[in-house]
Amino acid sequence: MLIRHATLPDGRTDIDLLVQDGRIAAVGPQLPAPEGVEVVDAQGFLLSPPFVDAHFHMDATLSYGLPRVNRSGTLLEGIALWGELKPLLTQEALVERALAYCDWAVAKGLLAIRSHVDVCDDRLLAVEALLHVKERVKPYLDLQLVAFPQDGVLRSPTALANLERALDMGVDVVGGIPHFERTMADGAESVRLLCEIAAARGLRVDMHCDETDDPMSRYVETLAFHAQRLKLHGRVNGSHLTSMHSMDNYYVSKLIPLMAEAGLSAVANPLINITIQGRHDTYPKRRGMTRVPELMAAGLTVAFGHDCVMDPWYSLGSGDMLEVASMGLHVAQMTSQDGMKACFDAVTVNPARILGLAGYGLEVGCRADFVLLQARSPVEALRLRAHRLLVVRGGQVLARSEPLHTELRLPGRSPRLDFTRPISR
Ligand code: FE2
Repeated sequence: MLIRHATLPDGRTDIDLLVQDGRIAAVGPQLPAPEGVEVVDAQGFLLSPPFVDAHFHMDATLSYGLPRVNRSGTLLEGIALWGELKPLLTQEALVERALAYCDWAVAKGLLAIRSHVDVCDDRLLAVEALLHVKERVKPYLDLQLVAFPQDGVLRSPTALANLERALDMGVDVVGGIPHFERTMADGAESVRLLCEIAAARGLRVDMHCDETDDPMSRYVETLAFHAQRLKLHGRVNGSHLTSMHSMDNYYVSKLIPLMAEAGLSAVANPLINITIQGRHDTYPKRRGMTRVPELMAAGLTVAFGHDCVMDPWYSLGSGDMLEVASMGLHVAQMTSQDGMKACFDAVTVNPARILGLAGYGLEVGCRADFVLLQARSPVEALRLRAHRLLVVRGGQVLARSEPLHTELRLPGRSPRLDFTRPISR
């Protein structure tokens, strides 16, 4: 396959990209077309490496309305609902919903997902189901699984043993939820314990950490401390970190350098943070999202995750990482030119680094995974939630659609058909 006349996220225009044996063989202007190669004219549209979601819950996705709808839309009713749903789950239904979500993801150019999987059900039904799904989707989507003790690894009596069993079964990453443990001491102890398990097994860590509005929550600091102590540099991620939104500025000026020194990465989940945090506030209401531009400025790798799609916590969402990035951009007020480009990176290259994806990118030698967007720059892709024209994995076309256009018939104006080239400045 030879893609002609593409724009790349770094701003280069009229670039060709040659795919051979599933890899990117050449990138540059006016490449010669080898005999028999399929030529695709990108018409100047944006060719991007695929979207990556660094934080998702695939065991709960698409269960909206089961066994009932979350009427209040709050975190607490969501947790209660998940508790009602868990005993009713079957492996077949879990697999079916997860596969359906992966179909949605592929259609949106989302080809790698890190999903947490709840290990607090002694049957480990969801773990088995998602390990099965991981194998099923392997030819077209990278699914990385995190052993997530939703009810607290110390608070729930069998969670620790279940978490170890899940890791033995092949789950990739160690999860945690220190702010949900019974006491502050238990929370800190859970971080120590889980980081040591990861270090002993040579695994990565991804914790729901400080997903609260409590300015005194200190588990991010604890996570950085153990990452540093156990030499887990570059392998530990803090998810949510919403307490950082409410923390005292002086304390944060100490915390962020500690996180950078420990090689932590961070994932904010803007759609969920903006809806779930600040619920106890009257006015002004806190946004709740962590300090994304400040963390980026300190050199941390920061990604935006989707977290939830049509599940007990969130009845919206569609697997569109451009919607996620757009919300993150607005909530973080990252409207500078560099800020908007950084938000595009936060759903592409940054999460790829957090997942440790090998061969990701548009450089020669990378696996030929990419998405062609009906936009002419990353900023325009965000603005338009750009239509996905082509989704390619390992040189194989997974999804293809026609450019969107609208037929306008306005009185006193000649009919217009061609809206395939959005106006760009
Ligand atoms: Fe989450």
